[in-house]
Amino acid sequence: MIDPQTVSRIMSAARIEEVIGEFVNLRKRGANYIGLCPFHDEKTPSFSVSPSKGICKCFSCGKGGNVVHFIMEHEQLSYSEALKWLARKYHIEVVEKELSPEEQQRRSDRESMFVINEFARDFFVDTLHNTPEGRSIGLRYFQQERGLRDDIIRQFQLGFSPEKRDEFSLSALRKGYSRELLVKTGLSVQSENGGLYDRYRERVIFPVHTVSGKVVAFGGRILRKSDKLAKYVNSPESEIYSKSAELYGLYFAKQAIVRQNRCFLVEGYLDVISMHQAGICNVVASSGTSLTHGQIRLIHRFTENVTVLYDGDAAGIKASLRGINLLLEEGLNIKVVLLPEGEDPDSYAQSHSSSEFMDYIRENETDFIRFKTAILLKDCGNDPLSRAALIQDIVESISLIPNEIIRSEYIKECSRSLDTREEMLLKQVGRQRARTAERNRQQRNLQQRYQDYRLQGGTPAGPVPEETQPPREEVPFPTEAPPLPDSGQEMPPAATAVESSPAGSMQKYEKNLLRMIVRYGERTLFEDENGQAVSVLEYIMEELQIDQVTFSDPCYRKMFEEACLHFKDTGFVAERYFLQHQDSQISLTAAELVTDRYELSKIYLPDENDSMSFRKKVQKEEETLGELVPHLIEDWKYRILKDRIKQAMEEIKQAQRNGDSQALTRWMTVYRDLRETEKIFAKALGERIISL
Ligand code: CTP
Ligand code: MN
Repeated sequence: MIDPQTVSRIMSAARIEEVIGEFVNLRKRGANYIGLCPFHDEKTPSFSVSPSKGICKCFSCGKGGNVVHFIMEHEQLSYSEALKWLARKYHIEVVEKELSPEEQQRRSDRESMFVINEFARDFFVDTLHNTPEGRSIGLRYFQQERGLRDDIIRQFQLGFSPEKRDEFSLSALRKGYSRELLVKTGLSVQSENGGLYDRYRERVIFPVHTVSGKVVAFGGRILRKSDKLAKYVNSPESEIYSKSAELYGLYFAKQAIVRQNRCFLVEGYLDVISMHQAGICNVVASSGTSLTHGQIRLIHRFTENVTVLYDGDAAGIKASLRGINLLLEEGLNIKVVLLPEGEDPDSYAQSHSSSEFMDYIRENETDFIRFKTAILLKDCGNDPLSRAALIQDIVESISLIPNEIIRSEYIKECSRSLDTREEMLLKQVGRQRARTAERNRQQRNLQQRYQDYRLQGGTPAGPVPEETQPPREEVPFPTEAPPLPDSGQEMPPAATAVESSPAGSMQKYEKNLLRMIVRYGERTLFEDENGQAVSVLEYIMEELQIDQVTFSDPCYRKMFEEACLHFKDTGFVAERYFLQHQDSQISLTAAELVTDRYELSKIYLPDENDSMSFRKKVQKEEETLGELVPHLIEDWKYRILKDRIKQAMEEIKQAQRNGDSQALTRWMTVYRDLRETEKIFAKALGERIISL
């Protein structure tokens, strides 16, 4: 936990153009800087940095946010890791608070579980290096039997869990860690009589890190062969650990993956570690299970090129071919390397230099589809039925490739290797794609319905579609954030909004009002009869409350609600609060709203010297807030009213069609009331327009 004061010290010290300048070659253009976007491939610069607003944004891929979001995305860090990164750069001390017992209580389970895992990691590392048992058993195993160097053992934070059945658990309890969370993290197991014992006793320990380096899980390997005990014991799934969402080694590999623009995929902990030791660092492990979508998306954040390294024994290859389809679907370029008979990446890395290993890979690398075809062909001989199944299998793989040109290349090639007509393959691939598209469409429909329902404030019946569940990552980094205004565009001035009230889109009205909140929320709008200052935000809050209306746009509504929560905080400045917001969608929206091009400044004022004539006066928006804000609210409400009238009319028609006289009477009353209100509004608005 970084305290809010430190966060704001970091935010005000960090100069966005300086930070981004470390990674992107920026050129000055007007008040802003511009450069090649680091988040996608491009030849002409569309990545823009605004020092005054502290915001960056790529006009082509849409990524951006404030300086923290940039570091999060670029360095693949969590929000607080990114803040610490900036703190280091600007020499700001980050004191993470020592927790009192009550505070510890208050911390969420999730956080506490990470803290416990950190404690456990340190305990296992310490045991490995600093106890006689750890050194003679664990360290000896890593060094002698697995040939690992000390620096590698340290880097991967390998450890040892002692033989005594509850040594770790007791030591954790003594330090005050909660029994419940020890069990939840899986570090301890509760026995029937209620005692705790260690899950990993007498095993060497491999901590599993998240992409930002936090310890989410452990794997414990047994030291001698055993028929009774599993070779590996792993952390159970928990609030913080979902096996299918992590990739072993990614934290240590991410930079090498980006630099080399390729990722090696292996099976086990020791494959990753030995390859690192041999100097090949762009490697991650799926940990023995088949890949999941989540894992693949993780890889895709760093590269599009994946090379799968298979053990020489080839037993599991056929089973794993299915999993590779997921990689194809994600648009990744997949290559495959089959290691020599009897070798796995670990053994090969231990007995060869990195250049020998890389040579081997270069010479034996095969394109995945080609590899799959060859393997399947070997098995099916000339049996026509299994040939048909084989062709269908390959067709499915090819159909998943998003890029059409690459697809047609494969079709050409497979028509040769499978001795099948190209048109036939083309047709089959087409049909397969249509089937998949239909399935996806149905899935999307379901999700859309669910989301609509949520927006109306309902809770959906039935299971929640997987994709709409809240993301596990701490802070979303939207890829489709609202665009910053570009220089050519101008917002229509307020007067236009008034005249064309009923026609304008609801979002426009909401946007105008939210602008007032973001730019001037904390400013005094007027003083009430007791001489109390009423801020822009307070006025808007009251006005909306009276008529029970709120923002329909979810992002706007969220911003409004947060402003309501925080406007009483000392030193609250709406603009700063939103620009520096943790959620990049919010900071980008705020940036859009504070941009000067959106000034609603051209207002016609009566000429003070001659009451019958008007003169054009360009006045600063902020000088006219007292008029502007109430007007914007009226405009918006008028628009909502129009909508409601329309709706009432529909209901009346419906009731007439159904012959439902009760509903008819009810809606007629509503309709008449609305019409009355409309008259009052129209009068006020009319006077306003005339009085200008
Ligand atoms: N694995 C597991 N549980 C098991 C066996 C394997 O979780 N009972 C996972 C581990 O992540 C392991 C990977 O599958 O790293 C690959 O298994 P394997 O090749 O058997 O293990 P290695 O790590 O290669 O270990 P070793 O070389 O010591 O046999
Ligand atoms: Mn192995």
